[in-house]
Amino acid sequence: MASTLQAIDLHTGLENILITEDALQARVSELGREIGAFYADRHPLLIGVLTGGFMFMADLSRSMAVPLRIDFMAVSSYGNATSTSGVVRILKDLDRSIEGRHILIVEDIIDSGLTLNYLIEVLRGRKPADVRIVALLKKKRDRPVAVEADWVGFEIPDAFVVGYGLDYAGKYRNLPFIAVCAPDLSETA
Ligand code: IMP
Ligand code: MG
Repeated sequence: MASTLQAIDLHTGLENILITEDALQARVSELGREIGAFYADRHPLLIGVLTGGFMFMADLSRSMAVPLRIDFMAVSSYGNATSTSGVVRILKDLDRSIEGRHILIVEDIIDSGLTLNYLIEVLRGRKPADVRIVALLKKKRDRPVAVEADWVGFEIPDAFVVGYGLDYAGKYRNLPFIAVCAPDLSETA
């Protein structure tokens, strides 16, 4: 199996590894145990935000030792660009009603926070018992609006990152680590 350092050579356009596979796995397991203990016998419905959140959802849900359900939503705020447009569209809605349920939004990354705030507003309107948020990554930056996340995996610098579900122009989602995109790649987008 290729080591992490060998693997990064296979993906041109990456600058450096920000979070290693081991560090990701350790933190996601820890989050899963903590969140599982928090919900205990209130069986949560995990709502994954596609596509970036798919890998985090898979690992997080396996670390939560409580009965739970999973659903996904797909939203779009970006196209191929690396800066936010502020426009959020629902591309795929949930399969079932969430009325009366304990909702956990599973988000890949909080950048501007616009996507998450929009989702929270939409989901609260559907009368769940409660809505909580876990984000794997949160960028350290100024935000137009405050974002409320109940759990955050890692606070990261304000750079464009890929891997572990996150893409640049549809690529790099399968990397088992989080890496920073080379500046020429993300700045010309
Ligand atoms: P927002 O600016 O918080 O609304 O971010 C919206 C979405 O943009 C996130 O859910 C990600 O899918 C994507 N995104 C934001 N920052 C990055 C990044 O650094 N790499 C890859 N995708 C990102
Ligand atoms: Mg994305």
